[in-house]
Amino acid sequence: MDKAPLDWPNLEFGYRKTDKNIRFTWKDGVWDKGVLTEDETIPLHMAATCLHYGQECFEGLKVFETKSGDAVVFRIDENAKRFVHSCEKILMEPVSEVTFIDAVFRVVKANRRFVPPHGTGASLYIRPLMLGTGPQVGVKPAGEYMFMVFVTPVGPYFKTGFKPVDLIVEEKVDRAAPLGVGDVKVGGNYAAGLRASMAARAKGYTEVLYLDAKHKRYIDESGPANFYGITKDNQYVTPDSESILPSITNKSIVTLAEEIGLRPQRREVDIEEIFEFKEAGCCGTAAVITPVGSITFRDRKVVYSKDGNAGKYSTELYEKLTAIQVGDAPDDYDWVRRIPEQ
Ligand code: PLP
Ligand code: COI
Repeated sequence: MDKAPLDWPNLEFGYRKTDKNIRFTWKDGVWDKGVLTEDETIPLHMAATCLHYGQECFEGLKVFETKSGDAVVFRIDENAKRFVHSCEKILMEPVSEVTFIDAVFRVVKANRRFVPPHGTGASLYIRPLMLGTGPQVGVKPAGEYMFMVFVTPVGPYFKTGFKPVDLIVEEKVDRAAPLGVGDVKVGGNYAAGLRASMAARAKGYTEVLYLDAKHKRYIDESGPANFYGITKDNQYVTPDSESILPSITNKSIVTLAEEIGLRPQRREVDIEEIFEFKEAGCCGTAAVITPVGSITFRDRKVVYSKDGNAGKYSTELYEKLTAIQVGDAPDDYDWVRRIPEQ
């Protein structure tokens, strides 16, 4: 099949119209079988709970093309599990993990010409989402839900790609609270962070680094990604916090870090430790591994990258991870699934 006529190596991380998306409806206590459609809009009741009370969650995962032309998806079973957990936490009716995976496979097949060619650095970003569509005015779960999946071909999340970014620690805004919903992928978490993110950008920083809301002392995560630091004695340190999203990319990097002689440690990370790290980075599906060039905390700034390039360990981890994702390296941990053609 001919590929879509796109400038693959220069794609931005953004929405682009593709051929089809898929939607499922939960009504009268059952999920339907789902339909593929070209429609980019959704009919929505004005009293739908997603609009008023934030009954909405989503996922993000990526599909790549291997050298031999297969479309493969990275750790989809983990995204399926996390999606179910997000739905349950805000009392929505989850789809089964099997339905989640089947929906992604169907929509990728219907948009096969948008899977970027191998070697372009681009990928097909998959965005599953669930909405409370049933009307309520009292604060209650909806009686109807919509699960949908759309796709869009993307390049790197941060415009600079695999180049160090500058973070600023935000103390005046909390993204999430310890017993709140920071550990699930609900839209409200991102709305809560928007003002901090935009303010950081206006000051010339790439993104925000949040501290934990309770002590204002330990690192939580960045707006769209988890955080890690590499210590001088080669520990891969990443925050253990109940208000951050458990990143599938981070979990994968923890495994790969051991392979390159780093000792992974998931624990509370005091903000003062940033001044001792030799490298730092952000990680996530969209962000992949994005090296951190500097962090500004109050009136102090620590610089990790003096030459504008990523450090040795971040580079090695990035190369290992992306090689597995695109099928260039053996899939020793069974992370990659081929999407069947039929
Ligand atoms: N943290 C937040 C707030 C995110 O939105 C994401 C993106 O999904 C991540 C972390 C990284 O998670 P994952 O690696 O599973 O994409
Ligand atoms: C992802 O990495 O998939 C995300 O959902 C992060 C988002 C802010 C783009």
